[in-house]
Amino acid sequence: MIGVAVNFFSDSRYGICYHSNVIWWRINAPLAVQSFNKLRRKAEMSFEKNILCIGAGYVGGPTMAMIAHKCPQYKVTVVDIDPERIAQWNSDDLPIYESGLEEIVKAARGRNLFFSIEVEEGIRECEIIFVSVNTPTKTFGAGAGMAADLQYWDKTARQIRKHSESNKIIVEKSTLPVKTAQAMERILTSADNGIRFDVLSNPEFLAEGTAIKDLEDPDRVLIGSTQTPEGLKARDVLVEIYSNWIRAERIITSNIWSSELSKLVANAFLAQRISSINSISALCEKADADVEEVARAVGMDSRVGSRFLNASVGFGGSCFKKDILNLVYLCRYYDLKEVADYWEGVVKINDYQKERFILNMLNVMFNTLANKRICLFGFAFKADTGDTRESPAIFVAKRLIEEKARVVITDPKALKNAMKDLGNVDGEISYVEDPYEASAGCSAIAVMTEWAIYGDLDYKKIYLSMAKPAFIFDGRNILDHEKLFEIGFNVFPIGKPGLTHF
Ligand code: NAD
Ligand code: UGA
Repeated sequence: MIGVAVNFFSDSRYGICYHSNVIWWRINAPLAVQSFNKLRRKAEMSFEKNILCIGAGYVGGPTMAMIAHKCPQYKVTVVDIDPERIAQWNSDDLPIYESGLEEIVKAARGRNLFFSIEVEEGIRECEIIFVSVNTPTKTFGAGAGMAADLQYWDKTARQIRKHSESNKIIVEKSTLPVKTAQAMERILTSADNGIRFDVLSNPEFLAEGTAIKDLEDPDRVLIGSTQTPEGLKARDVLVEIYSNWIRAERIITSNIWSSELSKLVANAFLAQRISSINSISALCEKADADVEEVARAVGMDSRVGSRFLNASVGFGGSCFKKDILNLVYLCRYYDLKEVADYWEGVVKINDYQKERFILNMLNVMFNTLANKRICLFGFAFKADTGDTRESPAIFVAKRLIEEKARVVITDPKALKNAMKDLGNVDGEISYVEDPYEASAGCSAIAVMTEWAIYGDLDYKKIYLSMAKPAFIFDGRNILDHEKLFEIGFNVFPIGKPGLTHF
């Protein structure tokens, strides 16, 4: 808003600019402020709705950019406590990389999309507030390592209560334990100041790397509300927003607890498929079966479906592990031990798969990795994003360093984050953008991320530049293993017999 104010005040039609002398300012400031407020109100009234999002992260930024893009009649403001992040959203270098994001942000920014650090003002001005703050796993106290850390959420609820001057609809966008809406409502209504707050649950299902596509054409939008007349009225306001670009049959509504729980369960089911196929990959390696052939045969059953059955070094990302642990914690809280154990197994298999990957490297590279240069192809937790949160590459790099290997990391988008993730690790790690340069002199390449470019490299050239014997561990099964073997590599995919020259 300061930025907007400066724009108004420096408008020549107001006959002032901020270089004016102090005396002039003292006389005219109240008038100028009045005019400014009038204009601001007029500008805001010209929008059909004023929408705020608290939290300008991977979800808040793209989601609000899509609403602003599809609904020019609404004013959308995204606020965050992190001034650096907001400065990046207001710059040419956005804080996150997503295909198609830059175009829609640049088209809407300054028109009906605004990024700001003025959280309190945003709360005062907007009637619909999405909350998209982070909800990481708790690292302290009761539930440490399992439960969701709700401190950012709690703080936001208190801020909304304190600065609200009119009725609000509060939309849970963050992923939260079931019954959080109840806690939120209790905090919000505790001031007893006559202001009405209606809390809705509207979990986000976008996946990184395809965020814009997912937001533009989602499988479904889920809106949970209380079933009171007021709750249903608030729900309809949110339905109306999404109806601007999403077909009615894709907008589903439910009771608020089902909505909160569905988000955790959706992530648990997706991750479960990966752990299921990864557990089978271990068996395939022993039984000379091919996990891709098994996945194809199983997935062609329309009751199972073919997606999310790619065996890998393990799933990463900021949410799968934390959301499953959150689900496990909830089950334990409700004394459902068997259910908790069942879902915890998904995380355990994922840890097992990452460790198995390292032990296999160690085993086939003659039981020592000490002083060997090993190149990680990719560091992002998946392709088409620069995000490295919970990336299996972090685990693999740290374990390689423990084995005293010399690690070289290459990635088209994630090198900056990789440097942050491994900043405190004591060992030899280098970061090289060009994969040819990165792999030169290395004894092994380990594919960590399924970036398409890794399929198109000249592996003959790479082989010639590497130490011999040369190994490739394809943690994503994206390379042509037969061809690599013919070039001279010893090749170890996931869930298939290794191809070795020994
Ligand atoms: P993020 O860490 O990228 O962004 C959260 C932002 O909230 C940060 O910029 C932080 O500074 C800000 N914030 C924290 N407290 C604040 C406060 N009091 N006031 C203003 N800003 C505050 O997180 P994210 O990846 O966008 O995830 C947000 C939520 O969405 C999480 O609950 C996550 O589980 C869920 N989610 C994430 C994804 C994803 O792909 N990343 C997808 C679906 C759902
Ligand atoms: C996931 C869900 O797909 C989203 O619906 C959800 O909104 C989001 O989590 C969230 O709540 O944060 P995301 O983590 O961005 O999205 O990416 P995914 O495509 O789900 O991939 C997660 C991990 O699983 C990646 O490391 C990926 O490489 C791995 N994966 C995925 C596999 O190993 N095999 C597969 O078959 C699919």
